[in-house]
Amino acid sequence: MISPSVRSRLIVALDLPNIDAARAMVATLGPSVCFYKVGMELIYAGGLDLVKELVDSGKEVFVDLKLHDIPNTVEKAAAQIARLGARFLTVHAFPQTMKAAKQGVAGSKLQLLAVTVMTSYDDADLADAGYSLNVKALVARRADQAKAIGIDGLILSPEELAATRAQLGPDFLLVTPGIRPAGSNAGDQKRIMTPRMAIGAGANHIVVGRPVTQSAHPQQAAEAIVQEIV
Ligand code: C5P
Repeated sequence: MISPSVRSRLIVALDLPNIDAARAMVATLGPSVCFYKVGMELIYAGGLDLVKELVDSGKEVFVDLKLHDIPNTVEKAAAQIARLGARFLTVHAFPQTMKAAKQGVAGSKLQLLAVTVMTSYDDADLADAGYSLNVKALVARRADQAKAIGIDGLILSPEELAATRAQLGPDFLLVTPGIRPAGSNAGDQKRIMTPRMAIGAGANHIVVGRPVTQSAHPQQAAEAIVQEIV
């Protein structure tokens, strides 16, 4: 029997084209999955109602909206999302943005995950955007700022897990995508780890999309991942 706390370490990314497809996937996965990530694509297709629906049916929800705006707007937006009863919300790791989001979620169960530097950025992209720090230094700086501000955790790539866990200590949440069960198709993910490796490297939660949602047997695929992290 797998405990709910182990099962909830798997977050399935509902990257599906519309709400009906997402609902059907949730029904297929049934009790095997208790935590879902709903991102921009689905949210802009009516996904906020789905967030509420999932919460009402007892699921945990990660709202991946990567907020970044002036503090007043971020605070009010975070407060609106907190009302839905979701568990995680992503914000970009700019100090003003993180402080405002923290105020917005005060008193709710919504926990904030900061995105340090988008993994699509390399050192040249940062220089191009006017930053003097390289990716590694900027990630480390923003991770420290997130912790100092009282953000609950970070979303980061598998290869940053071990160093970030060492930097931030045991109580900070680390959530990672880029997970591929042994033998599965990497797709467009380049720096991948298996579920077991990622948990071993310090991840609290792993985010898995296509290896579950594009599988011929999604529930079996999800169960196999949960078995790997027991
Ligand atoms: O299908 P797959 O398992 O690759 O999905 C991973 C999820 O994590 C997707 O929702 C994707 O947008 C997200 N993500 C990612 N890599 C990042 C940031 C987010 O794969 N660097």
